[in-house]
Formats: sequence, structure tokens, C-alpha cells
Amino acid sequence: MNILVVHGPNLHLLGRRKPELYGRDSLEKLNAAIKKHAAALGFKLRLFQSNSEGAIIDFLTANAAWADALVINPAAYTHYSYAIRDAIEALELPAVEVHLTDIGTREPFRRISVIKPVCLAQFKGEGELSYLKALDYCASLAKK
Ligand code: DQA
Repeated sequence: MNILVVHGPNLHLLGRRKPELYGRDSLEKLNAAIKKHAAALGFKLRLFQSNSEGAIIDFLTANAAWADALVINPAAYTHYSYAIRDAIEALELPAVEVHLTDIGTREPFRRISVIKPVCLAQFKGEGELSYLKALDYCASLAKK
């Protein structure tokens, strides 16, 4: 399978951003774990991080034809980006939503995901493992 992995705003700061919540590992380390797991599943990956909503939508548009599925941590855009929600829907990308933390048990504004309705599944609260489980979920789609 060809998989897009998208990290939203501020995830470039992993390792130094609130380590008590997000852990001490950098985005590079997270991406290395994602690449290793994807390779074990026989996936090809395109990884992307951006702090900009438009750049994320442009990346999805440019890569949708290549991709079989999308794994996305929309970060703060989770809670209010109808634009990213609409892009996933318009591009008909089978999408899996991922969060390092459990957005359901944090501040009230984080409990709402406007992305969730256009995703097939959501994995949250397990750090790096949330992403690895999302990749496993993509593998289960290939078998359907
Ligand atoms: C996050 C949760 C969001 O609420 C937050 O804005 C992020 C990261 C997570 O991975 O836990 O930037 O998506």
C-alpha cells in the first residue's frame, strides 16, 4: 500500500514541546519508528509535516492519486479545520486520525474532532503506538 503520513502544526516541536504530555522523542525519531513499521508491512510512505492548513491541503491534493490511505495527526487543526475535513472528503482518501495524547480527556476544546466524521478510525492516547496502530489498521483495509 501507498500511505501518506501527515503531521500538523507544532509537531515539528516534538521532544521539546510539553514533554510530560508528548514525550521526549523528536519528530525525526517518531518518523523513524513509522518508517520501520511501514517497511515491515511492505508499505511505501510519503511523510509530511506542516504548520499551515493550506500546505497540508496542497500536499493531500498533490498526493491523493498516489495514495491508498492517509494517516493524519491534524494536531490543533483537529478541533476546527473544516478545510482539512473537506479536503479529505473531497479527495475520497481513506483516512485514519491519530493523536499522541488522549484528546478525549484533555481540555474541553480538544474533545471535539471535526476530522473524525471523515475518517475510518481514530487512534489516540498511545504516543508513537497510535501511529503504528493506524498503520496496522491500513493493512487491515488492504485485506478487505
Ligand atoms: C495532538 C492533540 C491536539 O489537541 C494538539 O493540538 C496537538 C497534538 C496529539 O497528537 O495529541 O498539537 O493532535
